[in-house]
Amino acid sequence: KLAPDQLIIDAGQKQFGATTCSSCGMVYSADSLEDNFQHTQFHQRFLDSIKFVGWKKERVVAEFWDGKIIMVLPEDPKYAIKKAEDVRKLADNELGFQQVSLSCPSKAKTYLFVNSDKMVVGCLITEHIRQAYRVLEQPERTKDMTKEDFMDHHRAWCCSTSPETAICGISRIWVFSLMRRKGIATRLLDTARNTFMYGSHLTKKEIAFSDPTPDGKLFATKYCET
Ligand code: ACO
Ligand code: ZN
Repeated sequence: KLAPDQLIIDAGQKQFGATTCSSCGMVYSADSLEDNFQHTQFHQRFLDSIKFVGWKKERVVAEFWDGKIIMVLPEDPKYAIKKAEDVRKLADNELGFQQVSLSCPSKAKTYLFVNSDKMVVGCLITEHIRQAYRVLEQPERTKDMTKEDFMDHHRAWCCSTSPETAICGISRIWVFSLMRRKGIATRLLDTARNTFMYGSHLTKKEIAFSDPTPDGKLFATKYCET
């Protein structure tokens, strides 16, 4: 049975609580003018960026019941490069990367997951790498350590010192917030492993994630173990 004051609290939450837009996925407070304005600004730009009209030449590298994966290479027509860039910007924006360019754009391969509603809902950007350092558990800062000491040690400890050979670096991986946990990132990576080098299949050990986010770590740990 609800207490009378409980009803008041619920009403308050409804009024001031966060809303998730069911098309663009933005979480905002519908009661805030500022938030509404920002949502309006974001909404159309986002939907335009992920809209996929279909191309004369599409390099379809995988097909599924709920979509397909298209590979975009640096030498592709302008419209393809533009779409890949638009989606990368959305991902960078969400990852908090500010206008970081790719380390070697002329070698980057972009994989776009296009769903049956003609929207690009996933993006994976790979680059060639020679070696990678495994990220180790982060150490705790001990009480008598100064911040500077900690930073020095931290840098030395956070990655193993012995490089491991990796071939395919994952520079960015992103899935539209409303389409997560449907195996889209898994399928993008599986496809990249099979098509990254002509005629060969990379093992999970031959791929490495650069600077993963918390989401990225959870996903990578699961993906690389199974
Ligand atoms: N929390 C816990 N486990 C997770 C998460 C999570 N947030 N995401 C994925 N996993 C694990 C699960 O075990 C999942 O299997 P399950 O759903 O059966 O439990 C498994 O990984 C496979 O997940 P997918 O469905 O293939 O992954 P998804 O399509 O949801 O995409 C991604 C994962 C790309 C990390 C997505 O959450 C995302 O775009 N996040 C925001 C951007 C981001 O942080 N990207 C990584 C940056 S790091 C980099 O780019 C190098
Ligand atoms: Zn919206």
